[in-house]
Amino acid sequence: MVSISGPTFVLWLHIVAACIWIGGQVTIAAVIPMLRDQRELARRVGRRYQTVAWPAFAVLIVTGLLNVADAGLRWSQLFDSPTGRTLVVKLAFVALSGLAAGVHALLHAAPRRDAGGSAVGSAVLGSISLVAALLAALYGVAIARAEQREADRQTNWPVLFVIS
Ligand code: HEM
Repeated sequence: MVSISGPTFVLWLHIVAACIWIGGQVTIAAVIPMLRDQRELARRVGRRYQTVAWPAFAVLIVTGLLNVADAGLRWSQLFDSPTGRTLVVKLAFVALSGLAAGVHALLHAAPRRDAGGSAVGSAVLGSISLVAALLAALYGVAIARAEQREADRQTNWPVLFVIS
């Protein structure tokens, strides 16, 4: 059986946290419109969601930093390799996702004046955060695949056959 190393465990945590961050946003987007007539309940659901989502985002950042170290990427040479540049784009999407979700949360924490306007604003910010997180995940997969290809190329074992 393949062993489960520290970096594998960290990557697993990273993926689980990404599932919670992205899956939570999808769930909230599906549920909140059903609670339009129950504003207090909608607010409580939103608040409960925040208590799960932000710890997941923190886990993404901590495990992401560990992934970077494990991938052998150096922060000082980030623009020098295709993988490094892919990480830069990924981090821009991570920042956008966190920023949009943060502004979204702050808007909901503030006292309401215009309910209609705030619903549209929330939908726009929520969508930006979700799409940015999906793109961050896509770039993460691209980095992992590029590394795997590189590792495969460097292996000492002869290639027995290729399935294409
Ligand atoms: C919204 C936040 C984030 C999401 C949704 C996300 C999602 C993902 C996903 C799905 C993967 C693919 C894992 C695989 O295919 O094995 C991945 C890989 C990766 N992520 Fe993230 N991530 C986020 C934040 C971060 C942050 C903040 C960093 C760096 C500080 C980071 C660094 C990495 C690295 C280096 C990999 C490649 C890991 C490897 O080589 O196996 N991620 N990410």
